[in-house]
Amino acid sequence: MSISFEATQGLFHLQNKHMSYVIQLIHNAYPAHVYWGRPIRSGQLGSIIQYRERCSFHPNPVVEDRKITFDTMPQEYPAYGTSDYREPAYQVALTNGSTITELVYENHRIYQGKPVLEGLPATYVEQEEEAETLELALIDKLIGLRVFLSYTIFKDHAAITRSVRFVNEGNADLKLLRAYSTSVDFSHGDYDLLQLSGAWVREREMVRRPLAPGKLSVESSRGASSHQHNPFVALLSKDAGEDHGDVYGFSLVYSGNFAAHAEVGPYGTARVSMGINSFDFNWLLEPGQHFQTPEAVMVYSSEGLGNMSRTYHRLYRTRLCRGEFRDRTRPVLVNNWEATYFQFNAEKIESIASAGKELGIELFVLDDGWFGKRDSDNSSLGDWVVDKAKLPNGLEDLVARVNGMGLEFGLWFEPEMVSPNSDLYRKHPDWCLHVPDRRRTEGRQQLILDFSRADVCEEITMMIRNILKSAPITYIKWDMNRNMTEIGSAALPPERQRETAHRYMLGLYGVLETLTAEFPHILFESCSGGGGRFDPGMLYYMPQTWTSDNSDAISRLKIQYGTSIVYPISTMGAHVSAVPNHQVHRDTSLEMRGNVAMSGNFGYELDLTVFSDEEKEIVKKQIADYKQIRPLVQFGDMYRLLSPFEGNETAWMIVSEDKTQAMVAYFRVLAIPNDAIKTLRLKGLNPDFDYQVAGLQGEFPGDHLLYVGLPVAGLHGDFQSKIWLLERSSAE
Ligand code: DGJ
Repeated sequence: MSISFEATQGLFHLQNKHMSYVIQLIHNAYPAHVYWGRPIRSGQLGSIIQYRERCSFHPNPVVEDRKITFDTMPQEYPAYGTSDYREPAYQVALTNGSTITELVYENHRIYQGKPVLEGLPATYVEQEEEAETLELALIDKLIGLRVFLSYTIFKDHAAITRSVRFVNEGNADLKLLRAYSTSVDFSHGDYDLLQLSGAWVREREMVRRPLAPGKLSVESSRGASSHQHNPFVALLSKDAGEDHGDVYGFSLVYSGNFAAHAEVGPYGTARVSMGINSFDFNWLLEPGQHFQTPEAVMVYSSEGLGNMSRTYHRLYRTRLCRGEFRDRTRPVLVNNWEATYFQFNAEKIESIASAGKELGIELFVLDDGWFGKRDSDNSSLGDWVVDKAKLPNGLEDLVARVNGMGLEFGLWFEPEMVSPNSDLYRKHPDWCLHVPDRRRTEGRQQLILDFSRADVCEEITMMIRNILKSAPITYIKWDMNRNMTEIGSAALPPERQRETAHRYMLGLYGVLETLTAEFPHILFESCSGGGGRFDPGMLYYMPQTWTSDNSDAISRLKIQYGTSIVYPISTMGAHVSAVPNHQVHRDTSLEMRGNVAMSGNFGYELDLTVFSDEEKEIVKKQIADYKQIRPLVQFGDMYRLLSPFEGNETAWMIVSEDKTQAMVAYFRVLAIPNDAIKTLRLKGLNPDFDYQVAGLQGEFPGDHLLYVGLPVAGLHGDFQSKIWLLERSSAE
């Protein structure tokens, strides 16, 4: 890995064994984008850029060089108003009413390591040698605006991270109307755009569509990254599939409003830009103040989507997730939500925990309803005091009893919310996001606390801290169940109201930083009505997320497959729930439900006390089996074999880093009469190893499994599944 600078041509070359990324300073002033893709040698790289010779309607900002027009020049951080009419990466309003700025190169720094982003989640390095960073300093001298473009290339990952820092060194106020994290120009637009979109209980469906002249956008203005669109897009060459073709991934390490655009210009070039959504964003930068954008993580793969995903998986698992649990296997849990909803008492909870213990469960999680007077979702958020009507001996006593059974104890919170019917709201009616004199729109009968305020963050942190100190709690489910409306803060002046949504995220990140640092032994799992905030920002603080409120095994095939495009298995909560399923009313076998949930952080979310002896035996075996393969599942490399978005079957496999172990999971939705003979060609194995397949006689050469395949047979009926475990035969 290295970053080189060649002064005569003004060329920066960021490279590692997976890729090259090249920037050229045009006229020693304008950072142009030259190349991103497979590794290339340095040399006459500047000649790669093709210019459109001057033609009508393209203004020429550089008088002495008529071939330059920003409208056709591939750029690193394009502006609006000085001849580029495509999507700008930033826009600044001045006190004179103008939005014209011009950033030119001032100097640069190249250094080992990767800087920390102030107040924001980001990927990191543990040793400086793991990455190298280029910082380009640009300046608009007229107004004293300095902008630092930061690029980090990792040694071992096909990934570059980008972020931007704005500093007002002038004498007048500036207003940032847009401050994207990245913008990349591609020399042609012959790509498809992949996005992960959907809705509540239908998150992260794969949507692939061709680029065309004009713009495609994927964005959220909900105050959360959202169920509807994940902060991720990728450009795929037309021939790209799971295992071949060029793929360029863009993932934003942010949990709030975001936007990603892919624009094809008049000469067939494409521009991808991404950052905080500029819609309803307006950030006042007074003299001396600075603004830091979130980080965009850009991954290149010349071997299709599967390889792109594995790059994100390894990077996010090892250099985004943090804390004790990053490298620790996660406990098998039982959660009482779908078993009891709000109707439970201490005896019921203890009976579920005790049934779980008998079956091999390691952690009991008490979900919503344990605090205030919360017998439904219409009250008590913000009153984080145990409900003595349900738990008369308090939380400490319940935790002690559950611990006494040999189980760890976890607890649900929804810290960012307040119910209008709560003591907290009655005491502090101005502590929620709101706009004076306007209706406060409720969602699930709750309002959102104004986490842009330091006093609100401190009070909530204190309440949670008190609970966490009151008993040996080792897991937190951090929920968030509505999107923002009437976004405004009583603590901000009028000219800063449109900063509220981003300030909220900074406040939330601050609270999470404090609590996760104070309670490092607690495993935090984020949740937002399931996967409404399944994003890299949350994973920085909480290494796993409840993937979806939809726990139906068949729906989960698409949800988990779509999620795996960016996020590793170790980040996905996956539970077996009751049938008929509560979200889609479907009946599936316990085996099918278990097999799907085993490709995740495994658990149960149903009333274990009502199981028959036969069901208990199945569950006991599932848990024992999962414990055997847990390190493989949670920390192995994932290879997708068959897509639920393309047919009736789904298959994926997880292979250990040394390729001595693998789990293959196959799922078939509907039975097909007199179906074709099936063979599953595996991936990721070592062709030179021999493997034993549990349950099958003999040895299977790796190359046979890869190129011939594993026969799939003996499945009858709808909703069928099969898991094979492979182990390298001991070498002679
Ligand atoms: C939404 C979550 O996704 C569910 O799992 C559950 O925790 C409920 N909230 C509780 O209100």
